[in-house]
Amino acid sequence: MAGNAWRSTLLKLLARCGVRISDASSAPEVSRVMGAIKTQSPQPRTFSRGIQTVTLIPGDGIGPEISTAVMKIFEAAKAPIQWEERNVTAIKGPGGRWMIPPEAKESMDKSKIGLKGPLKTPIAAGHPSMNLLLRKTFDLYANVRPCVSIEGYKTPYTDVDLVTIRENTEGEYSGIEHLIVDGVVQSIKLITEEASRRIAEYAFEYARNNQRASVTAVHKANIMRMSDGLFLRKCREVAENYKDVKFTEMYLDTVCLNMVQDPSQFDVLVMPNLYGDILSDLCAGLIGGLGVTPSGNIGANGVAIFESVHGTAPDIAGKDLANPTALLLSAVMMLRHMGLHGHANKIETACFDTIREKKVLTKDLGGNSKCSEFTADICRRVQDMD
Ligand SMILES: NC(=O)c1ccc[n+]([C@@H]2O[C@H](COP(=O)([O-])OP(=O)(O)OC[C@H]3O[C@@H](n4cnc5c(N)ncnc54)[C@H](O)[C@@H]3O)[C@@H](O)[C@H]2O)c1
Repeated sequence: MAGNAWRSTLLKLLARCGVRISDASSAPEVSRVMGAIKTQSPQPRTFSRGIQTVTLIPGDGIGPEISTAVMKIFEAAKAPIQWEERNVTAIKGPGGRWMIPPEAKESMDKSKIGLKGPLKTPIAAGHPSMNLLLRKTFDLYANVRPCVSIEGYKTPYTDVDLVTIRENTEGEYSGIEHLIVDGVVQSIKLITEEASRRIAEYAFEYARNNQRASVTAVHKANIMRMSDGLFLRKCREVAENYKDVKFTEMYLDTVCLNMVQDPSQFDVLVMPNLYGDILSDLCAGLIGGLGVTPSGNIGANGVAIFESVHGTAPDIAGKDLANPTALLLSAVMMLRHMGLHGHANKIETACFDTIREKKVLTKDLGGNSKCSEFTADICRRVQDMD
């Protein structure tokens, strides 16, 4: 087959797997303002744009409880947000393709911004993970997780202040797997020039807009010379346009070693999908785990879904025991993404004050309080700031 015919066959195969490769010359639009949770530097002024709609996906298990907590705190802070609640379950669309319910898609298409609680992904459910489906549906290409030590919540580390930026759409998670012959399977790690450049640009824009000093590209280009080599090459190229941000590159294994020895040496880290999945959880562990770590999935043109990355916690669901911090701090990231810095700072300060004071803490944070009591304490602090 001639070169062009091969390319067209491959593109068709990838498209069938939901992987789109567009013209490499089209630069991504990078979301410009999304503060890390502890940035003390001057923030851009907030311009009132009236009440904005956010699609709320409460999720399963403890999802509804922690979503209610966030709504109460937003109300106490008079955040100009109106929630449009939507359930997300996998449904089969035309041609047998799995999709999210049309009401949820329409709401997100209109609002562009979502806040999501955990969704259960039963093993052998017969459908793909809803989290993956949401990322694919809205092309949420960047997963951003700020990890900052929380004063008053003791962990072996006190000075973590870093952000992991994970490419969210391809790599080992492209979903392209084949049975070659019985007993031999092949999984394809797909790395494209376009997606690598887009995530690198996002990382540098993020660093620049959040007064962060450096970006580290995390890779294994010594082993995966072509795929990680391409990712790294794009990071190097993009770095040329951001001379004000220091660029370093490091092997994934070295990053893991150095991270647990001294996380304070890291700032913004950018990496392909699988490395990001693993390293972002490792970093969350340094500050106290998934119960306190916020996360945002960012797409083009300002589209974004912010989510708690812990699971549905079926063992404590419905018992008023859940810790809403991760979803609340994700909602704080969301407010910053929307330019609502005043409300974001107020809610974040109240949440950290409650944790620092240690009087009203949920069980996982070392206390004995209920989710509703923890929420009420944050609401009181937020109201006292007025
Ligand atoms: N982002 C997501 O939507 C997401 C992420 C991970 C797991 N899941 C799904 O969640 C379900 C359960 O998964 P799992 O049991 O492996 O992990 P899990 O995170 O739900 O629970 C692990 C442990 O952490 C505790 N925990 C988690 N979040 C907590 C919170 N906010 N406050 C207090 N304690 C909390 C739980 O009680 C449990 O003891 C599965 O169906 C899985 O597919 C969803």
